[in-house]
Amino acid sequence: MPRKNLTSSALTPLEAKAELARLADLIAHHDTLYHQKDTPEISDADYDTLRKSYRALRELHPDMAPANDPEKLVGAAPSAGFKKVTHTLPMLSLGNAFTDEDVHDFIGRMRRFLNLDDAGEIPVVAEPKIDGLSAALHYHNGKLALAATRGDGTTGEDITANVATIHNIPKNLHAPYLAKVEVRGEIFMDRADFAILNQQREAKGETLFANPRNAAAGSVRQLDTSITAKRPLRFFAYALGDMDSAQWPTQISIRTQLARWGFALNEPAKLCTNEKEILSYYHHIEAQRHSLPFDIDGVVYKVNDRTLQERLGFVSRAPRWATAHKFSAEQAETRLNDIIVQVGRTGVLTPVAELEPVNVGGVMVSRATLHNQDEIERLGVRVGDIVIVQRAGDVIPQIVERKNSIHQHGARPYVFPTTCPACGSLAIREEGMAATRCTGGLICPAQAVERLIHFVSRDALNIDGFGAQRMRELWEDGLIKSPADIFRLHQHKTGLESRSGWGALSVNKLLAAIEARRHAPLEKFIFALGIRQIGQVTARLLAKHYQNCTHWRNEMIAAGVPESAARLRLTDIEQIGPLVANDIAGFFAEQHNRDVVNDLLKEMQVEDYQPPDSGSQTALSGKLIVFTGTLEHMSRAEAKSKAESMGAQVGSSISQKTNILVAGKDAGSKLVKAQALGITIISEEEWLTLLSTGTFDVRG
Ligand code: IVH
Repeated sequence: MPRKNLTSSALTPLEAKAELARLADLIAHHDTLYHQKDTPEISDADYDTLRKSYRALRELHPDMAPANDPEKLVGAAPSAGFKKVTHTLPMLSLGNAFTDEDVHDFIGRMRRFLNLDDAGEIPVVAEPKIDGLSAALHYHNGKLALAATRGDGTTGEDITANVATIHNIPKNLHAPYLAKVEVRGEIFMDRADFAILNQQREAKGETLFANPRNAAAGSVRQLDTSITAKRPLRFFAYALGDMDSAQWPTQISIRTQLARWGFALNEPAKLCTNEKEILSYYHHIEAQRHSLPFDIDGVVYKVNDRTLQERLGFVSRAPRWATAHKFSAEQAETRLNDIIVQVGRTGVLTPVAELEPVNVGGVMVSRATLHNQDEIERLGVRVGDIVIVQRAGDVIPQIVERKNSIHQHGARPYVFPTTCPACGSLAIREEGMAATRCTGGLICPAQAVERLIHFVSRDALNIDGFGAQRMRELWEDGLIKSPADIFRLHQHKTGLESRSGWGALSVNKLLAAIEARRHAPLEKFIFALGIRQIGQVTARLLAKHYQNCTHWRNEMIAAGVPESAARLRLTDIEQIGPLVANDIAGFFAEQHNRDVVNDLLKEMQVEDYQPPDSGSQTALSGKLIVFTGTLEHMSRAEAKSKAESMGAQVGSSISQKTNILVAGKDAGSKLVKAQALGITIISEEEWLTLLSTGTFDVRG
């Protein structure tokens, strides 16, 4: 992979601070996609490059690291729905090596740290790096008692019931064992099992998993364990967790013990004594990787001697005594047969390369994204060119380069369409934007169908049983034209059952899945509407702020008037800028969209916002707090953000629902009203105490 140093040492400290914050947010975004949603958008290699840039800049400006410093975090925070488990010994991550030189540096660093000379050898165990998700299994008196995901490294999710369904995990250890044993390893799915699972899903019209890793993660994270039980999951053990493990002095002896207890190990592993052996193991495995039954994304080197491991210790999130040597992205050459344009939910036109089918690292690829007009120009590709297509980890294949220096005779530069290929409306590219958009709105069939597909997708209403193809079919036949029609589909039950390829069973399942979603949390509902720029985070923010669906809708309609009070209330929400506000107001300004929402509300019940059970309750959790008067020690914005971070909701006026009023200097009518309603009133002093101690004396 390209090894550019993306970081400029010429940045001023303030510029570096801004850049670090930007990179940290980006990393957090990709962490969430990877760890919580199982829908990565970038390749592992690109992610590693991103982290590397961050690390390099942070080294130059250590004081400028933001609060969400990714170097201090591992993975992503656990999602709601599972009980939380705190790892008594954090589950760490691994540093990466990409080249032989990186491996040389890894060994050199350890030598220097241990004060060994150049000849000093450090035996390491090399093992395949499984592309799955890590888990910690706790055994009490030999019995599987608790299993947890890695989560953010400190807190994971309790997946005991799910893990109990994985066949190759021993439920009882083979004796002899200690009273307390913690085993760590990777849950994954074999490639062949994954292929069968996806075939079954396709037949049932369910969404397909992108790869075995996502399938494994999605299967483990099922609240309904009967679903997990049907998934062909496996486990490899590779380490011990928090337990008395002094009797195993080497990594090899740990592996032997794990096998004796009944665990499967990630083979082939090899004890290597020097760099030459390490690299030859790596190249051997790399050549073999496609004949292994499971996906691996590299190999892991671990110092064999645990006394040395202990001396070497850790640097922030990763051990100094181990590293992951990653395979580089896989590429292949093929011919660009055509460029077609797809229209997405929000009308964005995405050019897609149609390729002469080619095997890229074991997977046949016949399409790759070209992202947008600029990318086609940057690559300088024309139909007929020979291109290099790359498949890295989980992302959609991309074209990275044109191979031929001269275009084929007669090949013309690609002209990006100025009209939508789906509806013929004008397609325009806004000033400063990369994307070209169809202006057809809902008269555009592509947008209409994509919106419906989004509406039922996993992170939105999560209605299983609608594959993209099925939705398209139902739309074309006029059975589903708008989201509310989904809830009226039962009226066509008999007609559906007689469709070819459907059958009574799958229709029943689909209708049951739809019924189950007649109730939906407010944030899911907002996200499902597919409003431009309203991702899950913003949807949650809006839900939290407006609490109730009707109230939200009325406010959004009122916010259509540019200077209105409702528009101000919307832009007052931290993280909602004028552009996002414009998009929401713009959505509600269209009669058609208002009809869609109103029609839906006749069919379904949207639940009021429920704050997540954060685990750590504060005195402010779930409370409605109002500030009035002048605060002398902090700005209103800071007070608000502090209150929200402690789980409170901040209101602007006093009502029966208000729990606490913080009265600053010269408080006026709000104070009077709060007194009249008997609401708890605290001074700024008490507010500060509350922030630092988490409690305050309640006065009447
Ligand atoms: S050892 C402190 N060994 O890779 C070291 N990890 O990128 C802990 N992984 O979180 C990890 N195969 O999920 C280790 N043979 C192996 C592995 C392995 C896959 C995963 C594991 C870890 C991640 C780090």
